[in-house]
Amino acid sequence: MHFRLVEIKFEQEEKQSMIALERGYQLILNKDELRSLASEWDNVVGLDDIKNEIETSVITPLRDVKLSQKYGLMPIHGVLLFGPPGVGKTMLARAIAGRLGWTTIIMNLGELLSKYYGESENRLAELFRVAKNYAPTVIIIDEFDAIGKARTKYVSDDVTPRLLNILLSEMDGITKSNENILVIGTTNQPDLLDPALLRPGRFDKVIYVPPPNEETRAKMLEAMLRGKPIQDQLTMRSLRR
Ligand SMILES: Nc1ncnc2c1ncn2[C@@H]1O[C@H](COP(=O)(O)OP(=O)(O)OP(=O)(O)O)[C@@H](O)[C@H]1O
Ligand SMILES: [Mg+2]
Repeated sequence: MHFRLVEIKFEQEEKQSMIALERGYQLILNKDELRSLASEWDNVVGLDDIKNEIETSVITPLRDVKLSQKYGLMPIHGVLLFGPPGVGKTMLARAIAGRLGWTTIIMNLGELLSKYYGESENRLAELFRVAKNYAPTVIIIDEFDAIGKARTKYVSDDVTPRLLNILLSEMDGITKSNENILVIGTTNQPDLLDPALLRPGRFDKVIYVPPPNEETRAKMLEAMLRGKPIQDQLTMRSLRR
C-alpha cells in the first residue's frame, strides 16, 4: 500500500515537472535530482569565502529558523549573485538550492521574455504560486537583468516594468509572511538593476562572484579532466594560463 502511494506521488511529480517544462521553467521535486544538485555544492571550486558567507548568512538562518530568531537574525529571502559571464553564478545558485534540499524552480528570464512575451506576466505569477504550493522552495531567476532593468530605461508599452512590479510585490509578500521561499537572481549587469530591488526585504544579500584566479583555474581544469586520458607532459600549470 505504502509502495503504491509512493509510486503515485512520483508519477504526479513527474507530471508536474513536465508541465513546468512546457510552460518555460524547470521544477525539480524529485529527491534524487535534488540530491544531485546538492553534490554541486562541493563541485564549486575557488569560491570558499562566498560559500562560507552564504552558509552562515543565508542557509543556516533559513534552515534553523528557531535558532536564528534566538540570535535576532532575520532570514534572508532574496540573494542576488552578480559577476562576469561563466564564473559559476548559475552553478552556485543551483548548489545553494541543493544544499537547502528544497523544491527548486529555475527560470531563465531572458528566455521567458523572448519565447513567451505576451504570456510572461502570467508565467511569472504562476511561478510564485507553484513555489508556494511546493514550499519550502528555492526560485532561481537566471538572467535577472532582463527584467530588473531600471524602470526609467523603458519605453511606455514595455512589458518588463509590469513583470518587475509582480516580482517586487511577490518578494514583499514572502518577506512579510516569512515564507519558506528563497529567490536567487543571477546577473552580469547589476548596474542596470532597478534600485527598488535592493530595498530591505527584497534582495538583502548581494554577492559578487569574481572571475577565477590562476589557482582556481587549475582546480577547475583538474576537476574537468579527472578520469580522462591526458598526455603526461600536459601540466595544469601550463594549461591554466
Ligand atoms: N567556480 C566554479 N567551479 C567549478 N566549475 C565552474 C565554476 N565556475 C564556472 N564553472 C564551470 O563553468 C560553467 C559555466 O558556469 P555558469 O553557467 O554557472 O556561469 P554563469 O556565471 O552563470 O555565467 P553567465 O553569466 O553566462 O550565465 C559551469 O557549468 C561549470 O562547469
Ligand atoms: Mg548563468
